[in-house]
Amino acid sequence: MFKILKAEKLADKIYLMDVEAPRVARACEPGEFVIVKMDEIGERIPLTICDYDRETGTITIVFQIVGASTQRMAELQAGDAFQDVVGPLGNPSEFVSEDIEVLKNKKMLFVAGGVGTAPVYPQVKWLHEHGIDADVIVGAKNHDLLILEEQMRAVAGNLYITTDDGSYVRKGMVTEVIKDLVQEQGKQYDVCVAIGPMIMMKFVCLLTKELNLPTIVSMNPIMVDGTGMCGACRLTVGDEVKFACVDGPEFDGHLVNFDEAMKRQQMYKTQEGRAMLKLQE
Ligand code: NAD
Ligand code: FES
Repeated sequence: MFKILKAEKLADKIYLMDVEAPRVARACEPGEFVIVKMDEIGERIPLTICDYDRETGTITIVFQIVGASTQRMAELQAGDAFQDVVGPLGNPSEFVSEDIEVLKNKKMLFVAGGVGTAPVYPQVKWLHEHGIDADVIVGAKNHDLLILEEQMRAVAGNLYITTDDGSYVRKGMVTEVIKDLVQEQGKQYDVCVAIGPMIMMKFVCLLTKELNLPTIVSMNPIMVDGTGMCGACRLTVGDEVKFACVDGPEFDGHLVNFDEAMKRQQMYKTQEGRAMLKLQE
């Protein structure tokens, strides 16, 4: 069993938990994910690791209520436990294996949307711990839905917050901040990492393509069982077929076919849609 040490509501429908999982905490790197299962009847839920502490043997996960399983998960309290926490799974973010001296000369821009702020945090923190301060844009629908602000501020070089409704800092979507930084302020970046809802990643990529800014995205949202077995996370990257859970979750965003991935994601939600996808494959 994997004991929950802390359970906190971050915002409406968004929860954070610190979970005792020493083997995962010892081995994980930014970009990797775990699969959690509450009990015998619980669904397997893939979640990007938001933080880890190798010394205390704990990992932090952040999740949003999107259905019955995550609703049940949100009811867990400190002292309760998960039956399973499997991981670390997937591949670490590309920069983890790069030469630190080369990395120090790269200017990185992170773009986090909504709950996608959680998977961005360990990447920015890792860079900060290695002496690299990245710029970070965080977008949320409104001030109440903004998460991990203080944690992100502590590790980001510059933090740019924007809200869709203008209820905090500035009004507008993350793409408008990218345009401001690059086109108005003349900032130059070597790579952008965008993690958030699919529609955000699609529009960030359309813009960064125009700006000639290489962009990495995380295709975690299309995963279902996270094991390479269900086929849900199949996507086209360039002219290759990939599986987000096995080959990713991070990919070159300029090569991802977002429209196809979003269509599959919608179809996968219904039994009829899943049957249809099976027929097509
Ligand atoms: P949201 O809908 O509140 O959007 C967050 C921000 O994304 C917005 O504030 C805006 O700045 C930006 N955005 C949204 N649509 C945009 C568009 N068309 N153009 C430009 N920018 C746009 O986000 P949410 O409700 O917190 O997101 C939930 C989604 O995030 C879920 O679908 C979940 O699957 C996904 N998610 C993704 C990852 C990942 O690894 N990619 C991780 C966690 C959650
Ligand atoms: Fe099922 Fe990748 S999530 S195959």
